[in-house]
Amino acid sequence: MAQSDDLLDAMTLAEKLGQLTMTATAYGASGPVVGADLADAVRSGGVGNLLNLFGATRIQAIQRIAVEESRLKIPLLIGLDVLHGYETLFPVPLGEAALFDPDIWEETAREAAQEAAAEGINITFAPMLDIARDPRWGRGVEGPGEDPFVAACFARAKVRGFQGGDLAERIAATAKHFCAYGAVTAGREYASVDISERTLREIYLPPFTAAVESGVALVMPAFIDLAGVPMTANKNMLTGVLRGELGFDGVIVSDDRAIAQLINQGVAADLPEAAALALKAGVDIDMMSNAYSRALAIALERGLVTVAEIDAAVRRVLLLKEKLGLFDDPYRRGAMPDDASLRAKRRHLARDVAARSLVLLKNENAVLPLSNAYRRLALIGPVADSSSDMRGPWHAAAAANDPITVLAGLREALPDVNIVTSQGVGVEDDDLLGIVAAVDCVPEADAILLCLGESAALSGEAASRADPCLPGHQRALADTIFDAAEKHKKSVIVILFSGRPLIVPWLIERADAILAAWFPGSEAGRAVADVLTGAISPSGRTPVTWPRAIGQSPIFFGERMPGRPANPDDRFTSRYLDLESSPLFAFGHGLTYGHFLVSNLKVAPAHVSQTEIIEVTVDVINDGARMAKETLFCFAHDKVASVARPQLELKAFGRIALRPGEQGRLRLSFPARDLRFLGLDLKPLFEPGDVEILVGPCADRERLLVATVTLIAEGDETT
Ligand code: GLC
Repeated sequence: MAQSDDLLDAMTLAEKLGQLTMTATAYGASGPVVGADLADAVRSGGVGNLLNLFGATRIQAIQRIAVEESRLKIPLLIGLDVLHGYETLFPVPLGEAALFDPDIWEETAREAAQEAAAEGINITFAPMLDIARDPRWGRGVEGPGEDPFVAACFARAKVRGFQGGDLAERIAATAKHFCAYGAVTAGREYASVDISERTLREIYLPPFTAAVESGVALVMPAFIDLAGVPMTANKNMLTGVLRGELGFDGVIVSDDRAIAQLINQGVAADLPEAAALALKAGVDIDMMSNAYSRALAIALERGLVTVAEIDAAVRRVLLLKEKLGLFDDPYRRGAMPDDASLRAKRRHLARDVAARSLVLLKNENAVLPLSNAYRRLALIGPVADSSSDMRGPWHAAAAANDPITVLAGLREALPDVNIVTSQGVGVEDDDLLGIVAAVDCVPEADAILLCLGESAALSGEAASRADPCLPGHQRALADTIFDAAEKHKKSVIVILFSGRPLIVPWLIERADAILAAWFPGSEAGRAVADVLTGAISPSGRTPVTWPRAIGQSPIFFGERMPGRPANPDDRFTSRYLDLESSPLFAFGHGLTYGHFLVSNLKVAPAHVSQTEIIEVTVDVINDGARMAKETLFCFAHDKVASVARPQLELKAFGRIALRPGEQGRLRLSFPARDLRFLGLDLKPLFEPGDVEILVGPCADRERLLVATVTLIAEGDETT
């Protein structure tokens, strides 16, 4: 690209290193603050990229310094963690995954990009694509759950939504955290990861492959070391696999101070060595550690890196800025239209998506939707009237008091119902005195709504929990309320907020109904009210397997069959002495206000070569009393293969909405080549033989219809 080369020729070493540096603004009471020192660094060309800045005025002011007061007038990359919204927050990604709807995943990313770009943001550090199968790890909330197929669909949708067809019109997406971050030892944040090459390639790479195929502009390496090689210095993974095998040609931006942390990880003796390792591995931008701006020049003097290696990184950064249209019009994004009608449309979408993210885990005796006869409700618990927690741990520019609380949403939806509320206990504090007041709400109420769970601060980065149950004294509150409700014969409906599948078997047992709400975003309270009142039938399905005990972790549906499959009647089988092996809820579990019967599974063609498409149909009847939307999953299981295959592998999913009594046919399809797996040589293999195709409401084999297809080699169509 001539412009980059011209600029490169004109740049001093310090200006080149500035383009490889991303620094954060300070934070004051009113939000980000661009101090004089940062303004000077931008003016001198010592800092070429910023993060954690929001607000159109602030962004435009610092961009103007770069463009009009620096020597080479190179615009800034302005990055922010816009994971699930900028000011208007959609549900956290784990909650959005529960919709199993790629069109919506794309739409919310598009809306978030528009809202962020309108204020001058040009990069988001999203989508987060880490497969998460261990509830002890706090970051599962940021990603699409446990399954690589879902994560790959999520990756494609989010990259399309954030970036659109022309980067100059939207914002650049960052696929993160490359790679296998969710497999940290014992679920402990930032800990080592040590997995097989097969697991790396079959489980953790696919979402990044999908993101790269979709044209993602940036990739962020994970903090962790993979089998002893920190990802930030992992030349094999960043240059060999990501750029070489997957063909990624964009910018690699380190995670926060990750380059400097190579010293702690024991692979660099000092900052110049750390900077050299990262640059040679393929990291283009140093986020926050100043390793490149302060130590790369020393590394150059020591002969640890070459000018050509530095230039190659600078060239990729300049090319990204050009693709973003920053050289043509650096102020375009801050002046993009984003008026009240667009914001109102976005809020409406946020409400609809939040309602669809809620997963109805249990609904004993159809206590939900709430009876129209109710005149008095007791709303109890530490999350019932919390606005800020509805945002989840990554909330970009959304104000803490903006989200609609459950209390506010219910009062708006039920103006004629007397809703009394009592916190009972805090999320984590030690004060139990409020339980007495909370119990007093029970006798007069027609039903009890118990809002429990994690605060946003207990979720996300640096939020590993060794015992991921209900925090604080919420169990004491809940048990006391359950006892009082039993005494007064009242139903108890639990709304459970969390960034992970909390270990709460006792709560599931005692609640009449339980709604997993994750962190639903700006329209949380209205969405919860829409589902509780029946205005919207719940349709969310859990994107993670829900354990009975943390001792089962990691737990996921795609395990391989052991030589001694679990048999409760045989001690010498794959099981625990003290707990049944099955999960509390299978991946994909979620009730609706309808009742669906699935039958007549058909799979064609019966003999299929890898260039063909497998067509699957099932008949579905809603024999419930309410309109509802059913999500069905299509799995495959290769019973005999040259490498043992998972008991279930997800290949497709789809939804069908039916009125009471209505019957329909759901059609799903997927390329037969998706039934390839990595052979003994870890190369993709389409292996002739029988494969089961299983369809049903969740990853519970006992609830799946089964058919068989026969894979045939090319040219064997005659068999
Ligand atoms: C954090 C996170 C990363 C985020 C970055 C910038 O440490 O690991 O996901 O994008 O810093 O906020």
